[in-house]
Amino acid sequence: MMEGFPMSRLSQFTAILAVAMLAVLPLTARAAEPADAIEYRKNIMKTLGAQGAALALIMQKKVPADNVAVHAQILATTATIALKAFEPKVEGGDAKPEIWTQWADFSKKMNEFAAGTAELAKAAQAGGLAAAQPKMQAALTCRGCHDTYRNQK
Ligand code: HEC
Repeated sequence: MMEGFPMSRLSQFTAILAVAMLAVLPLTARAAEPADAIEYRKNIMKTLGAQGAALALIMQKKVPADNVAVHAQILATTATIALKAFEPKVEGGDAKPEIWTQWADFSKKMNEFAAGTAELAKAAQAGGLAAAQPKMQAALTCRGCHDTYRNQK
């Protein structure tokens, strides 16, 4: 009994500490700086840029087309998470404020981009470069969005 007391105090303390940490963790996670939100969406865009550039090299026959379906799939997957990265209304970077004042149109453009790249990925998976090539232009609507919603450097 004499030994049991400090043990139970210890486990009580451990339990309280665990609860306290659970309470604190979400707070620290929520305290994202505006700069972080901008950097995050830029990183998603950089992924699109890298995969788009890889596909361009394949289409120009400068590199083998073996991985065309993988690149198309990474594009498609990244497209599905891109909209969420713009949900926090954080002006800055090269993002135009119209993204948030015309959110319905911006999100429509992003969802269409996601749908188009999904179709591209499906075609590439099924029929390689020959099947993907005709869908490339319709899927890569990058420019159409950038012209409206991104500040030119
Ligand atoms: C529906 C809109 C939309 C689509 C579609 C879109 N982008 Fe973007 N993109 C943006 C916006 C907005 C920015 C500016 C983000 C910022 O600076 O905060 C951007 C920025 C970028 C950047 C610059 C990132 C940096 O480091 O500053 C690259 C590269 C890029 N996009 C590539 C692409 C490529 C490639 C595609 C197509 C395969 C694409 N984007 C499709 C809206 C879009």
